[in-house]
Amino acid sequence: PEAPRIRNFSIIAHIDHGKSTLADRLLEATGTVSARQMKAQFLDRMDIERERGITIKAQTVRLSYRAADGEAYALNLIDTPGHVDFSYEVSRSLAACEGALLVVDASQGVEAQTLANVYLALENDLEIIPVLNKIDLPSADPDRVRREIEDIIGLDASAAILASAKEGLGTEEILEAVVRRIPPPGGDPAGPLRALIFDSWFDSYQGAVVLVRVVDGAIRPGDRIRMMSTGQEYEVSRVGHFAPDAVDRDVLGAGDVGFLTAAIKSVRDTRVGDTITGARRPASAPLPGFRPVKAMVFCGLYPVDSAQYDQLKEAVEKLWLNDPAFSYEPETSSALGFGFRCGFLGLLHMEIIQERLEREFELSLISTAPAVPYEVTLADGTVTKIHNPAQMPPPDRIAQVAEPYVRAEIHLPKEYVGAVMRLCDEKRGTQAGMRYLTPDRVLLTYEMPFNEIVLDFYDRLKSASRGYASLDYDFIGWRPADLVKLDILINRQPVDALSVIVHKEKAYYRGRDLAGRLRRVIPRQLYEVVIQAAVGGRVIARERIPPLRKDVTAKCYGGDITRKRKLLERQKAGKKRMKQVGSVEIPQEAFLSVLKV
Ligand code: GTP
Repeated sequence: PEAPRIRNFSIIAHIDHGKSTLADRLLEATGTVSARQMKAQFLDRMDIERERGITIKAQTVRLSYRAADGEAYALNLIDTPGHVDFSYEVSRSLAACEGALLVVDASQGVEAQTLANVYLALENDLEIIPVLNKIDLPSADPDRVRREIEDIIGLDASAAILASAKEGLGTEEILEAVVRRIPPPGGDPAGPLRALIFDSWFDSYQGAVVLVRVVDGAIRPGDRIRMMSTGQEYEVSRVGHFAPDAVDRDVLGAGDVGFLTAAIKSVRDTRVGDTITGARRPASAPLPGFRPVKAMVFCGLYPVDSAQYDQLKEAVEKLWLNDPAFSYEPETSSALGFGFRCGFLGLLHMEIIQERLEREFELSLISTAPAVPYEVTLADGTVTKIHNPAQMPPPDRIAQVAEPYVRAEIHLPKEYVGAVMRLCDEKRGTQAGMRYLTPDRVLLTYEMPFNEIVLDFYDRLKSASRGYASLDYDFIGWRPADLVKLDILINRQPVDALSVIVHKEKAYYRGRDLAGRLRRVIPRQLYEVVIQAAVGGRVIARERIPPLRKDVTAKCYGGDITRKRKLLERQKAGKKRMKQVGSVEIPQEAFLSVLKV
């Protein structure tokens, strides 16, 4: 269809307010998926998404809808990920739309996590249609929630749609509103091609599958295209859309959303936010907003069983092809053996990749605590980035260490401002602003070391605000700080995989705390285990785990055999995630205990 018959929109919602259920109803009501085909939450394809209940990979579907005006429309529903790690991807997905459905649970009201996405939508000038969902619930209070949308977000909610995605109420009205209230896409159909990449993934047969929003011009199979950020050129093999399976088309025109393939070997060449243009008639300027993504959290991944190293290598290579934000390089640890230092956008991204490695590739892994990169200036003036605390040079060779800083924006109800400001101070934050968005809602801006966010900021923020604060952040550069490496020694042997970089003032406290935690998570062994924390060779804390005296099962002899078996089984299960470090068995929790403060 031509642009006037196209609508491009997203659904934005707080977790559990019903985004996936509503998407299911839209697919059904437009006959895109029949009720028989409909598994609940059709758009959440990956297992992990299903279990975690979040959307990781944007899935974009075309709905064909005959509106009340008698015309047939193509409605492109663009799914967006819902976590701050992926906020750049969200912003690009929204940049591909003209409108968004804002789904709010009519019994819960406006909640924190929706706000960041609403602001991204407003930044992209989207038409926002409020939908009050779950009106079937007896506790639904649409009037109150309508007022909240007006007060907190500042949107006119008088025309908000009442819906129950569960029972299918309001679906038709929502589809009509998409057609009537969201403007058709603009753009110049005759101009040189400009298409925004808002998602891509790797397919072993087609190469990269790229989701694009064509802004100007058109794309056809056989066209030669150029990626504007890299200058790489390709010949288009297929274009089409998902409905929900792939449907080939002859052309994607201005205003349209769909996929293309072009025998592209890796998704590294199809970066989200980049502009595709024509190689023969290139556009003079790319679309605004491109920003290459950079890994900002690193951890070591090691096979529990070193025989799985080759399998792990193959698995990380595969994931690398599929995820431009993921990076890896081989790493050797004296404690853990051969593994990889991997880079991620943030903590959630890290957890997702670890989970995929274990599930899809059936690997059993030990991961070291996540750390941010540091920029080290040596005494001789050379500057290096280190991605692993163990690589920190000795203090006498260092002139300066700089750490990444973020500007953090925190939205919260005013009653939690005091508690959250105290937390930000403790996290070495500097306040950069405080603004009342409404009489009850505050926007706090802080400049803060990213390291503190990686540690436990998010959990602490949630508990300081009873879950009502939302966090969004942007990197603002590197800043020098008084940082030292804290080493952990087990039976006098330094364990490189347990080293952390900490602020000098906190080193003593962190060292004691960490040694205490390790004492609690490392099981008793046949001989004494001594745990020491040290800074620059000076021991600042010491803990001791007394040896086991007897066989743990000895006391069961002659007694209850099932109890003995249970005990052994429990020991065996505990063993799975153990790593022999020198003469001591260290469990996975030990490597993560550095994260808890
Ligand atoms: P995430 O994917 O975790 O962000 O959640 P979501 O916003 O996609 O919510 P989802 O569609 O998974 O719905 C969350 C829960 O609310 C599910 O248990 C749904 O069955 C339920 N739910 C969704 N819509 C309605 C509704 O209209 N009424 C009632 N009573 N329950 C609903």
